[in-house]
Amino acid sequence: KARRIAAAAVALLTAAAAGITPAQAAPQGGPRYGPGAAGSGDPYFPYAGNGGYDVLHYGLDLRYTPPSDPAAAGNLTAEATITLRATQDLDALDFDLRGLTVTAVDVDGKDVNRGAGPSEWTQVQDDANRRWELTVGLRPKLKEGRTTTITISYGGATGRPQDTTGALYGWVTTPDGAMVVNEPDGAPTWFPVNDDPEDKATYSFRITVPEGKTAVANGLPGDDPETHAGWTTWSWEAADPMASYLATASVGDFTLSYSEGPRGLPIINAVDTGVTGPALVKTNAALALQPQMIRYLSDLFGRYPFEAFGAIVDDDSVDYALETQTRPVYSEVADEDTVVHELGHQWFGNSVSPADWKDIWLNEGWATYVEWLWAEHQGKATLAKQFTDTVAELDSKNLWALDISNPGRDNLFAEQVYRRGAAMLHALRARIGDAAFFAGATEWLDRYANSSATTGDFEAVMEEASGQQLDAFFNDWLREGDRPAMP
Ligand code: ARG
Ligand code: ZN
Repeated sequence: KARRIAAAAVALLTAAAAGITPAQAAPQGGPRYGPGAAGSGDPYFPYAGNGGYDVLHYGLDLRYTPPSDPAAAGNLTAEATITLRATQDLDALDFDLRGLTVTAVDVDGKDVNRGAGPSEWTQVQDDANRRWELTVGLRPKLKEGRTTTITISYGGATGRPQDTTGALYGWVTTPDGAMVVNEPDGAPTWFPVNDDPEDKATYSFRITVPEGKTAVANGLPGDDPETHAGWTTWSWEAADPMASYLATASVGDFTLSYSEGPRGLPIINAVDTGVTGPALVKTNAALALQPQMIRYLSDLFGRYPFEAFGAIVDDDSVDYALETQTRPVYSEVADEDTVVHELGHQWFGNSVSPADWKDIWLNEGWATYVEWLWAEHQGKATLAKQFTDTVAELDSKNLWALDISNPGRDNLFAEQVYRRGAAMLHALRARIGDAAFFAGATEWLDRYANSSATTGDFEAVMEEASGQQLDAFFNDWLREGDRPAMP
């Protein structure tokens, strides 16, 4: 809690420095009811997420018109039905929504008019401060613990949004549709959201696209696709709690295939019909290994955490893959290393998510270590060799300087986060032994399943599992600017 409050204070100071006052909770001694905060206190993304409520469910009804020219913008017309519970007495709350225009808001079925009054809504689009807020006034006010349903009609042009490093993300227009990958803060480019990995919710998707196009989201198919007057509506239900950065609703010319993995787990793959030749051969070979990979990782880390798995293999519009929950998105080809990496994220990152973005190594270090484990299991390279090679690489590129437990907003996906992270886990395993290492890993996954946790939480679990004091070890391997002593 103290950590949260400190983080919120940092966010407020950042905002104050920028000359902006984010919505704040009512001051002590003032009225009990006040607006929820405009951010959830992430030091890297102060206006991502919001305060005062917890979303239970997002119902997203999207109609997407792809552009005829892929370099141009598409159009999204949508209605989001958001069920949430107040965590403080609220007279207003915010959602994050970027670059799209709201046309109507209903609270519990009652129309809320546009404006700035107590029962009205307003939108702010402040790109310089990454402050994209829809504020909804609540009359009647919403008491802590009460649940309400807010319906937001919105829409606009969808283009090719960029993250803080210039990488494409969010709702990205492709030649045949859209590739939707939100990490870290891209979800607001297509729906109003409490964009905080700590606020997980279930999702229902209805995605209406021109007849002939396929729309694929997280989870399992809902109602059968329905076609009327040249438009087809695809339904998907994601019943496992999910962080907003892991939602997808990709649209394209896909071939869908259904099969079963271990324990009857549904595996649904969507492959872009434009993926052909060697890329398709490679992709099919890797996707055929999914059941074996799931079995292997379940043996090591416990049962696969979700109701389904699969892949969305799109074109090369975005140059990375993302572990979108139950159905990772791949660019142009899904190779074996990447498939096992994104599968590893279902446990490490998706079931147990980072509490703050600075904890990203908990995702990427583990997913990279999962690649190493699989490569050894397949007889490709021993862990010892992968560890030694990685350390040599970090040496030769001088990559020890970055504190991977707080890499900085624009270094979330730096090589060090992945490779030093994986090397750290292997060094930890050498230090505490296999039994404690895997006991610690499964305890971590059990304790924080469908939730989120910090680097400090991870250190505590590993200290418990090993019975060792590991502060110096974690400092050397995560934070210190020098090459740590080798195990
Ligand atoms: N988590 C993804 C992976 O490791 C990488 C996402 C990169 N995202 C970005 N906005 N550059 O597979
Ligand atoms: Zn990853």
